[in-house]
Amino acid sequence: MLQRTILLTLGCLLVLEVGNSSASISLPIKGVKRMALKSAKVGATSGTEHTIESGVRNADLAYLLEIGVGSPPQPFTLLFDTGSSTTWIPVDNCGHRCGFPPHGYSDASSSTSESTTLKFDIQYGRGFAEGYFVKETVTLGNASIPQTYIAVSNFNDGELSMDGADGIFGAGPDELSYSDNSEGIIIPTVLTSMKTEKLIDERSFSVYFQPRKDENDESINGVVTFGGVDTERIEPKINYVNVTKQAGYKDYWAINIDGLAFDNQTVSKTQSMVALVDTGTTMVLIPEAIARDFFRNIPSAYRSQSGLFVIPCNASNLPTFSVIINGEKYTLDGSQYVIPRFQVQHLNPDYCYTYLQSGPPNLQIILGYGFLQSVGTIYNMDTRQIGFGRHKAH
Ligand SMILES: *[C@@H]1O[C@H](CO)[C@@H](O)[C@H](O)[C@H]1NC(C)=O
Ligand SMILES: *[C@@H]1O[C@H](CO)[C@@H](O)[C@H](O)[C@H]1NC(C)=O
Ligand SMILES: *[C@@H]1O[C@H](CO)[C@@H](O)[C@H](O)[C@H]1NC(C)=O
Ligand SMILES: *[C@@H]1O[C@H](CO)[C@@H](O)[C@H](O)[C@H]1NC(C)=O
Repeated sequence: MLQRTILLTLGCLLVLEVGNSSASISLPIKGVKRMALKSAKVGATSGTEHTIESGVRNADLAYLLEIGVGSPPQPFTLLFDTGSSTTWIPVDNCGHRCGFPPHGYSDASSSTSESTTLKFDIQYGRGFAEGYFVKETVTLGNASIPQTYIAVSNFNDGELSMDGADGIFGAGPDELSYSDNSEGIIIPTVLTSMKTEKLIDERSFSVYFQPRKDENDESINGVVTFGGVDTERIEPKINYVNVTKQAGYKDYWAINIDGLAFDNQTVSKTQSMVALVDTGTTMVLIPEAIARDFFRNIPSAYRSQSGLFVIPCNASNLPTFSVIINGEKYTLDGSQYVIPRFQVQHLNPDYCYTYLQSGPPNLQIILGYGFLQSVGTIYNMDTRQIGFGRHKAH
């Protein structure tokens, strides 16, 4: 088991950027030590469920976004999740049925609340939420998005409250929303509503995460930009890749990758590997056999009882780990994949966790923010592509 330690508290910045011709909205995302794991449940369309093994629980961190719902806006803190597509908040006075979240939604206190007959029910890799849908005005920064579908939960596993979050901002593709409602219909996401309301020209957003330097680092460590690319922080040369057509993954933000590499040795693969790009998962999950091969290169690395690999904190000459995407190699060195002890501590002070871990069987690769805090990503619903861009030096 991991110790529950450090809660990261970060500064807050709000920017509305109006670029050349296309409007975009940038919001800060704040990193916190994450107490519970909300991971994507993949494979609903293929009839098989691939979920994350419980060993990953508590080993992680989360990025949170502030939004407002209603008129006047009621504040909520949401986990920003590209692995699911329904945005939900807890109902007012939900109490123990929602894990005592920091905020709750009162339709009676909002002049823009419209009820619907749609019921809400979502299952995550771990956990669940249920309730009903309303149409409401959503506030992101100073942008107001009327008539947006929001799920109001009156019952959920409550684990997000431990992270200081109320619910989830579903940044997955619209198509993924069909399994979250009683009618099995595709519900427009907040991103789609932003375009419908002409607040953005293109249904896209970029995500920039930056690791904290130390426990006192209060700098902005994440920005999500709706409607464009955050060119202030991400290099303008973007490597765009189509989302995968593979059954079970095609409605997700998932791509086929070319392969993985340790140092300069490309890991041979027998079939095309699908990688889910998921801001709601902390780790970089890779097939178990590949993880074992990787950690075999690190003296004294071992797999702990929780199922997580740990390595000596003072290990030197760590191998690099690369993901090869559309011919480009994105490389993490040890300083990028070892989780600093101020973030997550192993019981034995000589051992450290890494962001690289083995996923469950059948699930191929999840690029969680262990990867995303080194590489900028752009998610385009209109072209159905994910772009990868290197962080600008700063
Ligand atoms: C949002 O705020 C920014 C800066 O405070 C301002 O420049 C911009 O015009 C505002 N946008 C809207 C839509 O109100
Ligand atoms: C990507 O998708 C577009 C549109 O469906 C298609 O025209 C293009 O050939 C695809 N590119 C690759 C490399 O598969
Ligand atoms: C990997 O390849 C690059 C370029 O060919 C080379 O500079 C580097 O030393 C190699 N790294 C290792 C660990 O072999
Ligand atoms: C790493 O730490 C262990 C335990 O404290 C120690 O035995 C070992 O000599 C250290 N190795 C290096 C390379 O510093």
